[in-house]
Amino acid sequence: MIFYQNQSMENIQGYLSKNKERFLDELIELLKIPSVSADPAYSHDVLEAAEAVKSKLLEAGCDVAEICETQGYPVVFGEKIVDPNLPTVLVYGHYDVQPPDPLDLWASPPFEPVIKNTDLHPEGAIFARGACDDKGQMYMHIKALEFMVKTGQLPCNVKFMIEGEEEVGSESLGAFIAQNREKLSNDIILISDTGMIGKETPSITTGLRGLSYVEVEVTGPNRDLHSGLYGGAVANPINILAKMIASLHDENNHITIPGFYDKVEELSLEERAEMAKAPFDLTSYKKALDIEDIYGEKGYSTNERNSIRPSLDVNGIWGGYTGEGAKTVIAAKAYAKISMRLVPHQDWQEITRLFKDHFEKIAPPGVKVKVTPHHGGQGYVTPLDGIGYQAASKAYLTTFGKTPIPQRSGGSIPIISLFEKELKSKIILMGFGLDSDAIHSPNENFGVWNFLKGIETIPYFYQYFTELSKENTESA
Ligand code: BES
Ligand code: MN
Ligand code: MN
Repeated sequence: MIFYQNQSMENIQGYLSKNKERFLDELIELLKIPSVSADPAYSHDVLEAAEAVKSKLLEAGCDVAEICETQGYPVVFGEKIVDPNLPTVLVYGHYDVQPPDPLDLWASPPFEPVIKNTDLHPEGAIFARGACDDKGQMYMHIKALEFMVKTGQLPCNVKFMIEGEEEVGSESLGAFIAQNREKLSNDIILISDTGMIGKETPSITTGLRGLSYVEVEVTGPNRDLHSGLYGGAVANPINILAKMIASLHDENNHITIPGFYDKVEELSLEERAEMAKAPFDLTSYKKALDIEDIYGEKGYSTNERNSIRPSLDVNGIWGGYTGEGAKTVIAAKAYAKISMRLVPHQDWQEITRLFKDHFEKIAPPGVKVKVTPHHGGQGYVTPLDGIGYQAASKAYLTTFGKTPIPQRSGGSIPIISLFEKELKSKIILMGFGLDSDAIHSPNENFGVWNFLKGIETIPYFYQYFTELSKENTESA
């Protein structure tokens, strides 16, 4: 504590007010690079973003920063070792972004960042693809490091692992971690790639859902057919696919795949009552989405439906004629991309198998079904009694004046369960985004206030984590 309140030492608020314009300008430069990992047309830009992150790590005070080649896009690694006897924080983030389309729904181009004031953000919000997910949030850590190094207040060691394939399933990162356990060794993994409840309601993400992502193909006749000459007499793959998809939920919106819920952890009534204390306003939730009513699994609240319960959604569906006007045709094939969000204990590979077996089984005679797994990962839950969570909680208390609410999120960072397995450390999710940031959507944005609040809060995490680690070893 004394650390930052010492008047003779520069405090974070002072550092921020002096440097915030530069911090924003730097982030804007990073956001101009269209590092879309899903589309090979942008591969040059993805590599450029990696280079930019490397330079920024060096400028901020890392002793080492390097581009580490992988099977896919590189991992940017950086470190600043103060003293090997002190604890080490490993920061994970990603420099790749989602594709920006549909482009016509953006008020300003996705890779020409602009700061605009909004009702929620009178201090301004940066509009650009990746503003929140994850360049803006990842950059908070680089600027927090800059503050700590430049003012001589870095209390422990720090390592950075910033990848370029998170948005496409982190395919190369597993092997990278397995091959670099020593280099990546740490005492806690810190990630800002999630959100919080509100500016007045700080929260820490204590869990993420797992994921199984599959693509399905339904094949009917060997060619597209005239829908008059053949209509009613052969299985139409699109009709069949729609029927098969519809059958994946029952009238209570339970998922019908046999065995799907077998390993789902049922929370106790106490735990559910604790969860229900988190502020949630149904009216504003509906209003924010322009929906008349909510929809979901019977017996669970909205907050439960999108965090402690698994879900299954079609992410895309196509086939047949979708051009101008009408074409009378029965297409030979129909396709869909389906994601299943999983909760702790559900094994994503097992769920993928269960889906495949079931989907093939429910196909009627007259069509062939192919299920192709894409990617996936396990869910994750952070223990609330660990020093990592306690340090994070104290950090928010210091900068928000309120103890943060622990909250599980419905999103996924599928690779993080592997971090725990390979690197044997816990993961703390200090996200500063808001639901209104529109990540993955047109007009993605990140509040300037949120960006600065993140930079302000992160150094306290380092300080409290270091203090709590010392207390732990002393008492051990
Ligand atoms: N940062 C998100 C995940 C996230 C966002 C979690 C907000 C919680 C709150 C991440 O970049 C992401 O989009 N993950 C993907 C999975 C990935 C394999 C494409 C997701 O959740 O769909
Ligand atoms: Mn992300
Ligand atoms: Mn994302």
